[in-house]
Amino acid sequence: MADSSSDETCPEREWETPPDSFVEQANVAAADRDAFEERGWPGCWSVAADLLDWDRPFDAVLDDEGATRWFPGGRLNASYNCVDRHVEAGRGDETAITWEGKLGETRAYSYRELAGEVNAFAAALRELGVGEGDVVTLYLPMIPELPVAMLACARIGAPHSVVFAGFSADALATRLSGADSEYLVTCDGYYRRGTAIDLKRRADNACVSADHDVEQVVVNRLEDDRPVGDHHAYADLVAEHEGATVDPVSRGADDLLFYIYTSGTTGEPTLVRHTTGGYLTHVAWTSHAVLDLGPDDTHWCSADVGWITGHSYAVYGPLALGATTVLYEGTPDHPETDRLWEIIERNGVDVFYTAPTSIRAFMKWGEEHPEGHDLSSLRLLGSVGEPIDETAWHWYRDHVGDGDCPVVDTWWQTETGGIVLSTLPGVDRMRPGAVGKSLPGVETAVVDELGERVAAGEAGQLVVTRPWPGMARSLCEGAGWGARRTRTADGEWHYETGDNAVRDDDGYLHLLGRADDVVKVSDRRLSTTEIESAIVGVEGVAEAAVVVGADETAVQTSEIHAFVSPESNVAGDQTLRERVRDAVQEAIGPIAVPDVVTFAPSLPKTRSGKVVRRYLAAIASGEDLGDTSALRNPDVVGELESLVDR
Ligand code: WTA
Repeated sequence: MADSSSDETCPEREWETPPDSFVEQANVAAADRDAFEERGWPGCWSVAADLLDWDRPFDAVLDDEGATRWFPGGRLNASYNCVDRHVEAGRGDETAITWEGKLGETRAYSYRELAGEVNAFAAALRELGVGEGDVVTLYLPMIPELPVAMLACARIGAPHSVVFAGFSADALATRLSGADSEYLVTCDGYYRRGTAIDLKRRADNACVSADHDVEQVVVNRLEDDRPVGDHHAYADLVAEHEGATVDPVSRGADDLLFYIYTSGTTGEPTLVRHTTGGYLTHVAWTSHAVLDLGPDDTHWCSADVGWITGHSYAVYGPLALGATTVLYEGTPDHPETDRLWEIIERNGVDVFYTAPTSIRAFMKWGEEHPEGHDLSSLRLLGSVGEPIDETAWHWYRDHVGDGDCPVVDTWWQTETGGIVLSTLPGVDRMRPGAVGKSLPGVETAVVDELGERVAAGEAGQLVVTRPWPGMARSLCEGAGWGARRTRTADGEWHYETGDNAVRDDDGYLHLLGRADDVVKVSDRRLSTTEIESAIVGVEGVAEAAVVVGADETAVQTSEIHAFVSPESNVAGDQTLRERVRDAVQEAIGPIAVPDVVTFAPSLPKTRSGKVVRRYLAAIASGEDLGDTSALRNPDVVGELESLVDR
């Protein structure tokens, strides 16, 4: 339903209103939003915390003296909240996880079955010596054993550290050592586009290079009895402990639930830690208020559980609310490009949450694929990870949502834990192309370099101006709040998100991309500095700069370009190109391998010697370069343009 009449600030943009049928059934209606806001910040967040069961009630919503602590004095267990309480409520036979395997297999876990396996694996972990506070690394593809292991860790108070299965052995080794993790749960291998990937070998290599001994538990996914090294078999452990009960360990609200590594602005992966009470409150509340989930819903968040989106909205959020979560091991185009629509139809998915990079791929493959399926079970669509442009927004709503599903664009980060900016689908109008507003209880601003607020319509950096429950632990520590923070002239603390944005007169934010060297490629968050460090480690390479360019030809719409300057006596040839690619593959994994490697005699630099990536990004995207006269070596730019080899 388009309505352009009441729009004064952006006349060229239409407002969209959710249909009455949606509004009438929404979890959060205008009155609920008002009641939440009336409590004021931070007290409003106790409404969100009420979605959980606490072993001991919290003494206050927020303690912001020195360190920032949400729900001090409160105690709870995440596994109890995501599993046991639904069984106790008589919902043990309802489906918790429904899994769609790569080879077309399916497996479903009722809440009772999930409780059984979580308890058995928690008992097994204990027997292996895992105690409260010990970090367990989970290096698994999208199989049900991954959420089971997460919940088993949560049950015994052992923070998990999930490492995306596409990462290399070196990347895993860095993360095992960095988190001081002595336990690893992995599998023999998995299927990707029909080929078996040997994960166990990567895990073994990582354990050899980790700086301490690592005990391994291995899930047999390939079921081909391939000989694997020293380890405990997951299936044997679960069978041995079948029927065991492990009392959920009561954790302080501020105790850690998990570690997750992400790409930051340095060459090293950044460790982000999330707390039990604040994080779980934030993801449960946003799953309820933004994704509109409840116990009767089937929710599909298509993100890999190896990334934060999968943690928050494929595992903890939907399970905390007692919904059914869909886990899919495969890719959207295998065996056919209508695979996702077939899964939605067969499972009667109510809410589908995916990334713009996937939506653009669906558009390219054609609307006949979603339209060939009965998707009438869908009630709400969500988008996350990158800005969703108006065309993609409308396509998604019209061809997947049958023209009337509300679409929520949701902005957040690994560091924020859960959704921070969006629209409440039962309350707010939507403006395609704009993400929405700060959620109730969250305060943000757009600021200039000095940290001062800019006027509506002006671009600046998006900052969060007050603590929120899902904030990562590192942002809570130290005086004031935020390790990554600025203090403005009037002494206010800000969390700097690293994203640029513009706020319109209606308070709707339009995201403009990152201001630092964190990039999104096919929904994966990567650091260009991290890729550059791997490249300059190659013998014969003098310098490298990595940028992301638009790619008009492939389904993914951005690609990684590496501009590499070899040492003077070294040839920039195919051999060196392969070595550059191999180095990145080894250091990070296939996800970060440059799509294009261009050898250059030198890189465009300022007179002070700083590489100007803006020109490289323009060259990579085939865009106009503009004025290059400020460069020390303007000639190299023209030369580079002719050298790019697609
Ligand atoms: C980007 C993923 C525009 C942003 C949840 C952010 C978005 C980074 C949106 C975090 C959105 C995420 N619109 N940009 N709706 N959602 N981003 O840590 O640049 O993998 O800083 O968390 O993704 O990526 P991360």
